[in-house]
This record gives sequence, structure tokens and C-alpha cells, in this order.
Amino acid sequence: MSTMLFDGNPLHDGRDHSAYPLPYVECDAMTGPQQLADISAEDIMQFGLAFWASKALLSAVELDLFTELAAGPLDGETLRARLGLHPRGARDFFDALVALGLLGRKAGVYFNTPAADLHLDRNKPAYVGGWLHLLNTEHYPAWGSLTEALRTGKPQDRISDDLFDAAYSNPASLAAYARAMTSHSLPAARVLARRFPWAKYGTLIDIGTAEGGAPVEISHVHPHITGGGFDLPPVQPVFEVYVRERGLDDRLRFYAGDFLEQPLPSADVLVMGHILHDWNLEVKRELLAKAHAALPSGGALIIYDQMIDDERRTNAAGLLMSLNMLVRTQGGFDYTGADCIDWMRKAGFAEVRRAHLSGPHSMVVGVK
Ligand SMILES: C[S@@+](CC[C@H](N)C(=O)[O-])C[C@H]1O[C@@H](n2cnc3c(N)ncnc32)[C@H](O)[C@@H]1O
Repeated sequence: MSTMLFDGNPLHDGRDHSAYPLPYVECDAMTGPQQLADISAEDIMQFGLAFWASKALLSAVELDLFTELAAGPLDGETLRARLGLHPRGARDFFDALVALGLLGRKAGVYFNTPAADLHLDRNKPAYVGGWLHLLNTEHYPAWGSLTEALRTGKPQDRISDDLFDAAYSNPASLAAYARAMTSHSLPAARVLARRFPWAKYGTLIDIGTAEGGAPVEISHVHPHITGGGFDLPPVQPVFEVYVRERGLDDRLRFYAGDFLEQPLPSADVLVMGHILHDWNLEVKRELLAKAHAALPSGGALIIYDQMIDDERRTNAAGLLMSLNMLVRTQGGFDYTGADCIDWMRKAGFAEVRRAHLSGPHSMVVGVK
């Protein structure tokens, strides 16, 4: 089964691809039939059942079970009472999490495994529960109607036709959405801070920045960088809190605006992380044109997303993310590195190259 889930990007081969200039690598075609021959009936059933384990984890995050246990191990009855669970399913739920490797149990007392304690306790900096929370509340229900989306081409969001109207309908969901973006993007942003020649540039603006996870990571590593993040006006408070808490409010500021209606602000480097995939091809091209217009000569645009392998055969994470755009947006879709390179060249960018960042995330960089 792992063969099917391997994302297939040749830049994810475990070797160091960190050199700059960025390597331009064509993806090898992996043939479908070879992969299919490798999987068994049991593997197929595991695909079908994967959502059981997924939902057990998402409910545990919703209940904040791992934060509760981070304060100290608890016997099953105390844990059940603290979380407000009915006795019928509690023991099976806790023991299923043990079997999944998320909890440990000794003499009836439950505790977090090291990875769960590091990443699922909301009080720890490496917490990834923001993204899991969004998966639980928004993605999981929308994916339940994937078949309908495939038949109609329409998003299946229950709240609103517009992803951001829904997420920003109140301050709590805005903060949760922006926090989810940070936990989704930080691993890629950390690599981006080291895989681009930042020493050659002085200013950076992250377009569609949410909390500002990417500019904060880059500015921490490169003390000469100043700039900030551009996003819709309601995002300003969460950006400012995040940046201030990390001691960067003297170097990074918020630029309020709407990139569908206005030109983009200017800086030596513009970054768009998980932006293009939200939109249809026409808007993607408009955003690239606006970025080109806003950059000074010699300035750079960095696009990063869960880019699909060029053969569209192996990067399951990128392809599934594109289906996620189907169920959650009006016209969004993910794309290959080759697509992005083509659009950027047509928008006027030169020296267009791509490189792997982390997991399924890759970037394409172009110079004006
Ligand atoms: C998918 S999130 C990506 C956030 C961040 N770049 C990351 O990678 O974690 C898309 C971001 O684009 C912003 N956005 C959406 N529509 C926008 C618009 N019309 N103008 C400016 N920003 C917008 C959203 O507020 C959100 O922060």
C-alpha cells in the first residue's frame, strides 16, 4: 500500500536537493499497471477503511484528549469523565488510539506517545492540531459528498459558496482557519527559509499570508529581511498577534487588501503559498501577472503548493489536494510543476526553476 501513497516526486528521494540554483528535474513516469500489481485485496480494503482511523484521530483532537493527557497520565475512567464521554464507546476509543500508536497504556493508565505529546498538545509549539481541526470541521463533511461534487463540479461546503466567507464568518473560525494554515505550511516554510538565496534580497511580502507563518520563519533565519504579509483586512489581528508573539513586529507588518480587486504590494521577493490552488486558471494567471507587475526588475516570485508530479500518476497527496479544492472551492485545482513553470514563463518570468520543499510541497521560483 505504501507504494500507492508514495508521492513520486523525484525531489523527494531522500537526497539533498538544497543547492541553489534550484535543480530542474523532470519526473519519471511510474506506470499505473506496475503499481496496481503491487497492491492486494487487503490493501484495497485498507483504503476503504482509512477514514475510520482518520476520524478517531480527528475526534480525539476535537476533544483535546492529547492536551488533557499532556498534563499527566490518567486512568480510563478519569479520562472519560474529563472529556465528557459516554461509557459505551470510551474504552474502545482510547484503546483504538493505543493500537494506532497515538496513546500508550500501562496498568489501565493512559498517556500520550512521544509524537502525540509533541504534535497534539495544543500548548506545544510543534502542535499540528489546527490543521487537523479544520480537517475535522470542514473537510471531513465536504468529502462525504465527493461523489456529488464529481457529478456536478460544485463545491460541497455546507456554510457558504466562498471558502473564505465561510472561514471568516466570525473571529473564532477566522483564528482557527489561520492557525490551521500555519500548521499546514510551517514544514515547507522552514525549508523555504533555507533553500532560497535570501542574502541577495532585502524585502519580502507573503501574499495571502494568514498568520504570517512563512515570513516569520524566513525572517528568523535571515535578520536582514524586512517586509510582511498581505491578506484580507479581517486577517490583520491574527497576523499581528502571531508576529508580535515571535518578536518580529519591528520588521514585519500587515498589508491589508484584496488581491482579486487590487494590485499587489511591491517587494524584492513575493511569496504565494497555497494561493494559486484556490482559484481557477483565469485567476491564477491574473495573480501571476499582478505579481510580475509588482516586482522590481531582478525581483523574485516564489510559488509553493502540493504540486502534482508532471506525469500525474504518483503524487497522490497533490492529486487528492486538487479533489479537496473541488469539494471546497468554486474553481480551484492543484497543478503540476510543469504547469506552473509554463504559466510563469508566459507571465514574463525568467530563470524559472522548481525545487522540493518538504513532504508533498514543492516550489517554483521565477525572476523578473
Ligand atoms: C489557503 S490559505 C494560505 C495561507 C498561507 N499562505 C499558507 O500557505 O499557510 C489562502 C490565504 O489567502 C487569503 N486570501 C483569500 N482571498 C484573498 C483575497 N481576495 N485577497 C487577499 N488574500 C486573500 C486567505 O485569507 C488565506 O490567508
